[in-house]
Formats: sequence, C-alpha cells, structure tokens
Amino acid sequence: VPDNWAISGRDLHLDLGRSGRRAALEQALREAVQSGRLAPGTLLPPSRALASDLGIARNTVAEAYTQLVAEGWLTARQGSGTRVAGPSPSSAPPPPSTVSRAFHHGEFAFSTRAAVGLAGALGDTAYDLRAGFPDVAAFPYAEWLAAARTALGRTPSSTYRYPDPQGLPELRTALAGYLARTRGVRARPERVVVCGGFGQGLWALATALHRLGARRAGVESHGLPLHRRILTGAGLTLVGLPVGAAGAELPGGGPGTGQGVDLDVALLTPAHQFPLGTALDAEHRAAFVRWARARGAVLVEDDYDGEFRYDRRPLGAMQALAPDQVVYGGTASKALAPAVGLAWLVLPERLIGPVVAELTRVGARPAALNQLVLAEFLTSGRYDRHVRRSRLAYRRRRDRLVAALDPTGLRVHGLPAGLHAVVDLPAGHSEEVAVAEAHRRGLAIEGLAAFAAAGHDRAPALVVGYASPPAHAFTTALARLVATLRAL
Ligand SMILES: Cc1ncc(COP(=O)(O)O)c(C=O)c1O
Repeated sequence: VPDNWAISGRDLHLDLGRSGRRAALEQALREAVQSGRLAPGTLLPPSRALASDLGIARNTVAEAYTQLVAEGWLTARQGSGTRVAGPSPSSAPPPPSTVSRAFHHGEFAFSTRAAVGLAGALGDTAYDLRAGFPDVAAFPYAEWLAAARTALGRTPSSTYRYPDPQGLPELRTALAGYLARTRGVRARPERVVVCGGFGQGLWALATALHRLGARRAGVESHGLPLHRRILTGAGLTLVGLPVGAAGAELPGGGPGTGQGVDLDVALLTPAHQFPLGTALDAEHRAAFVRWARARGAVLVEDDYDGEFRYDRRPLGAMQALAPDQVVYGGTASKALAPAVGLAWLVLPERLIGPVVAELTRVGARPAALNQLVLAEFLTSGRYDRHVRRSRLAYRRRRDRLVAALDPTGLRVHGLPAGLHAVVDLPAGHSEEVAVAEAHRRGLAIEGLAAFAAAGHDRAPALVVGYASPPAHAFTTALARLVATLRAL
C-alpha cells in the first residue's frame, strides 16, 4: 500500500467519545463522502495509521472500514488499500492556490491547514515542509485529556475567577522546575511570566523596555518577520546582527568586546538559530553577556526548540550565565502544538512588574484552564515523555531527509537540532523558481530570503521544516522535495 494518502485522522474532524466510537467514525466517514469532502478514489490511511492518529483501537477502524465497504461507500482491494468508492479523480494534485497564497507564519497569525480544514488537507497542504510547525497530528491528546481530568478534578472553584495576570502559580512553579531541570534555566516561580504565545511575551517585553528608555534592538540577520514587526511596532529601531558559523555576532565581527555597540536589547535564538540552524557557541555567548552587562542591555533568548537536539546533549540555556541580563523565552507551540496557546518568559527581577503591567494594560489573559492542564502535564512527567517521543520521531525524519537529499549532492545545514534544516540550492538558481516548482508539485516550502532582515542577502537556499507533515505524508513530502530539486 502506498503511503501517500492525504488525510490524517485529526483532519476528519471526528468527535469520538468514550463509547460508540465505531459508529461515530462510520457516520463521520459517510458524511464526508456524501458531502464530497472525501472525493471518489481518495485513498484512506491504513487502519493502523488512522487508529494511531485518532488514539483508538485498530480494530475499531478496521471494522468501520469493513462496514462502509459493505454499504458501498468505500472499496477495498488487496494491495491498493481502502478508497472512497466511485470513479478515480485525476491524479494531478489540486492547484496550489491555498499554498501559494498561504500565510507564512511570520505574516499572518493563522494556520492555512486549520483555515482550509479537510478540503485543504485533502489537497496540497498535507505536504507542508514549511519551518516552524510541529507534527500536530502527533499531539498527545489522550494524555492531554487525562491531565485535564486530573487537573480540573482537584481544582477549587476559586481558580475559575480572573487568574493571576502573571500566570497561575501552579504553572509557574511547574515551569520553573522543568526549565531548571531540562534547560539549566535559573528560574524561580516568581520570575516566570506566562503569556499567550512567545510573540505576545515579546511584544510586552519590547513595549516595557521602550517605556523604560530602550530605542535600538539587535536582531539576527535572519529570523521570523513577525518578531521583527513586533519589535518595530513597540517603537524600537532594528539593527541586523550578522550570523556566522558560530551564531550571531555583535556588529564589528567575531566575539569582540562589543565596545561602542549602542543597542539596548538583542533578540537571539542561541540553541538553534532560526532559521539558519547554527548554535551560538560558548565564546559568542560569553561575549554577548559581557557586552550586555557592561552596557546594561537586555538579551532575549528565544528558546523555541531547545528541547530538540539530536546528536549531543542539549546546549543549556544562555540565561543561566546572566539571569539579570537575559530574558529567557519558551513556548508550547513546538513541543506540543500552537493550539495550546501558551508561552513563558523568565525575567530579571526588575522587568517582572513592567512586563506584567503591559500584559494587563491590554487585557492579555492566557486561558487559565489550559494553564492548569499544562501544569499537570509537566509535573506528571507527560511533557517529558512526549518530548522524548517527539525527539525520536523528528530525529528519524531528519535522518530520512539527509538520506533523501544525499544523491542530490546539495549541502544541508542546521542538522544537529530543531525541526528544520537549510538546503543550499545549486549555484545560480533562484529561490522563487524552486519554491514555485515545489508549489506546482503540491509542496509548501519557503526560501531563506523569506526570513531575511533588510539588507541581509545570502546564497539561495530552501528552509525545510521536516516536522510538520503528519507521519503518513512524510515520504511523499520528501519525494516531492527531491523531485523539485532535481527539476531545477
Ligand atoms: C523562532 C521562533 N520563535 C518562537 C516561536 C513560537 O512562537 P509562539 O509561542 O508565538 O507560537 C516560533 C514559532 O514559529 C519561532 O519560529
């Protein structure tokens, strides 16, 4: 059976309760076929894959398939899998309109896949190698539900009032413990601020710093456009920091002393530069910290995928070197899913009040119920287990990416960590052409230039996020990438 079926369990939008799952699955599939959401000829995932996506028994799926074959909704043929009955549609992928106009997560604050739902997922968006997304089909929702049951079951009703604007104490305590243990962060619960995404935290921090007199912010030559817009939106003027083989540098080159560098704040991705993939080495970390201390500047450490390091032990957080100079930022968007909607800052004492004041001023209020569940998810060890599982799965994907690209002879960077890598294009080729070629093949991907700050061009490359496709679509996504590169 080929593994290029284009839907995952979650895309079926099933509401499966504890009982009657088989009936619910059958009904959902009938409706999807009847309404045309599942086109004739569409290949359904094997029962094992769909069952694992949905967190239900394989037999339940197999029985539902058998029932629907008997009713004539589906066909099953030995060796060619289970399909929606009826004439086969053209094998050409649908036009990549949703992809070509697709948001780049730096541009808009919604996910194409979520926005287009099943219709889009049946088309091009399952083959999505854009950076910045975890495999949301692997969200541990059964364990999330178990954590929710435990957490809500023991929570007094007072928790349902307006929460502490700094974040629920339960979550701040759980995070402080987790970050100290796994990332070496010097965190006490009093220093943790919970926010509704790293972007929101960055906005509150930048606004607070501007109010305190900051004017100039250093940003890495490449990064999320959204984060640059957040900084300028807060009134800061941006200065691009070059990124070399050992990570970001203070202007002037090398670790240097930073003497005369008149920045008030610098936003860095030390563990795994986004998107170039380099790690900030010890010498450069020390140089940034020395410079920040001497100047009274603030370093912001965006540790968005610090948990995912494959070949060596994770690099500890830079914050530990200078907790009074470095703001540590983390998010649930990569290790769990953007839908959790929670991120956290660990702040120097003097910035806690000002940052919480900004969040309060605009009524930012990360959902307390989600905070409770995440706290339980962390303290029960479920978060660690999920990260371990994901790390293994992503490392395998990374290895498959490397193996698939090997025959092309193209250089790949940023492999030791994270959920994405950078593939150099053959000399003389343009990113736009490569991205358009990929879209023609129903593959969503971005060029490196999409992340560049003004005036920071580099040799053409593609940024490959290998975490995003659901497991069943990964082989096809890789094949489309290789076909794209071969067609150049
Ligand atoms: C570099 C970087 N930092 C942080 C984040 C996480 O942001 P948020 O918590 O707002 O989802 C992302 C997500 O795409 C990212 O790419």
